[in-house]
Amino acid sequence: MPVKTQVGIIGAGPAGLMLSHLLYLQGIESVILESRSREEIEGTIRAGVLEQGTVDLLNEMGVGERMMREGHFHKGFEFRFNRQGHRIDVHELTGGKYITVYAQHEVIKDLVAARLQAGGTILFNVGDVSLHDVDTSTPKIRYRPDKDGELQEIVCDYIGGCDGFHGPSRPMIPQANRTEYQKVYPHGWLGILVKAPSSVSELVYANHERGFALLSTRSPEVQRFYLQVNPKDDIKEWSDDRIWSELHARLETRDGFQLLEGPIFQKSIVSMRSFVCDPMQYGRLFLAGDSAHIVPPTGAKGLNLAAADVKVLAEGLKSFYATGDSEMLNRYTEICLRRVWLAERFSYRMTNMLHRNPEHTPFEHQIQLAELDYITSSRAASMSIAENYVGLPMGFGS
Ligand code: APR
Ligand code: PHB
Repeated sequence: MPVKTQVGIIGAGPAGLMLSHLLYLQGIESVILESRSREEIEGTIRAGVLEQGTVDLLNEMGVGERMMREGHFHKGFEFRFNRQGHRIDVHELTGGKYITVYAQHEVIKDLVAARLQAGGTILFNVGDVSLHDVDTSTPKIRYRPDKDGELQEIVCDYIGGCDGFHGPSRPMIPQANRTEYQKVYPHGWLGILVKAPSSVSELVYANHERGFALLSTRSPEVQRFYLQVNPKDDIKEWSDDRIWSELHARLETRDGFQLLEGPIFQKSIVSMRSFVCDPMQYGRLFLAGDSAHIVPPTGAKGLNLAAADVKVLAEGLKSFYATGDSEMLNRYTEICLRRVWLAERFSYRMTNMLHRNPEHTPFEHQIQLAELDYITSSRAASMSIAENYVGLPMGFGS
C-alpha cells in the first residue's frame, strides 16, 4: 500500500529539515527521505556562519534555543592584506545586526531533534530514491527502506527536492526546460579543526601572496581554519607542520600577530564552484538549497540560501493549502532566484577578491589589492560589504 503525505521531501540537510518543520508549524504533513544515517548527517563538518535572517527564522521556528546559548555573536570581521588588519564593523554599518557563528551540523542536530519530538517522520538510510509523475497532481517517490528492502512508494501533493548538488531531484527537470549556469574555480579550501584557544575575537579573511587563509571558530576550545590550496591536492600532501607554516606565513602582520597552535583533529579539502539551475521548479517538484544552487564558501552563504528558499516554499504551500491559491508557488523560481543571484554575485566577488588566482597577471593582483583598500576605507563600500555579509532581508525580491 502506498503511503500518502502532503509534501514528500528528499534530503535531511538544512533545506529538507527546515522545510519539514516550517510545514509542520503550519499544519502541513511531510515525510523526509534521507540516504545517510542520522549519525552521518549530524557529524558531517560544514561551514558555520548564519545570517541574521537565518537566526531569526530558526528562533521563530522554536529551534534556536541552543544556538542562542552556544553560538558566537560577532559584531564585525577583518580583512587582512598587505600584512595589516582592517575591520568591517558589520553591527554599526547594518543598524545593529550580528554575524552568528554556529556550526551547520549543530543546526542539523537541533532540527532533527525538533522534528522527532514533534512526531515528524524522517526515514534515514533509504536507498534507490526515485521521483515519478512530477508533472501531475499526484507526484510519487519510490525508495528502499534500509537500502535493500522492498521498493516502497509515497504519493504526495508536492515534492521538495532538498537532496543537495548530487541528488536525484534536479535531473527530473527535463534538460530542454532548464538552464544551468556554472563556474568552477581553480581554488580548493583545506579546512581544519584545531583544539586550541582562539587567537582572534572575530573572523579574519586574509589575502596573501601565498594564497587565501581564513580564521573562524567553533567554541572557546575549538577553532576552524582554512587555507587556499590546489583543489587537486591530496590531503596526505598536507602534514600538520606544513599547514601551520602556511597559516603563520599567510596571517602574519606588521605588528606581530600570534596564531595559537594546537592538535589538528580533522582535515579535508573541498573544491569550489558557483552553480545555478533555472528554473527551480518543474510541475509539482520544487528544488531548494544546494540541489538548485551552489556558492563558494567565501561569502558563507550556503545554508542561508537554503533557509531563504524553504521560507518562500513553505509560505507558498501554506497559501495553497489554505485557499487553493498557487500564485506564490508559481512565483517560486522568480522570488528565489533574485536573491540567489545576489548571493552568487557576492560570493563570486569575495572569492575573486581574496584568493590568489594562478592565472592573474601582476596588474590584476594590484587591482585586487586596490579593491580591498577601497572596501575597507570607503564607508559606502564597507556598508555594501556589511549588508551583503550579514544577509539581504529574507523577503528581498518578493
Ligand atoms: N536520496 C535521499 N537523500 C539524498 C539523496 C538521495 N538520492 N541524495 C542526497 N541526499 C541527501 C544527502 O545525504 C544530504 O543529507 O540530501 C541531503 C542534502 O543536504 P545538503 O547537501 O546539506 O544540502 P542542503 O540541505 O541544500 O543544504 C545546503 O548545506 O551542503 C551544505 O554548503 C551547503 O550550506 C549549504 C547547505
Ligand atoms: C566556517 O566557520 O566554517 C566558515 C566561516 C566563514 C566562511 C566560511 C566558513 O566564509
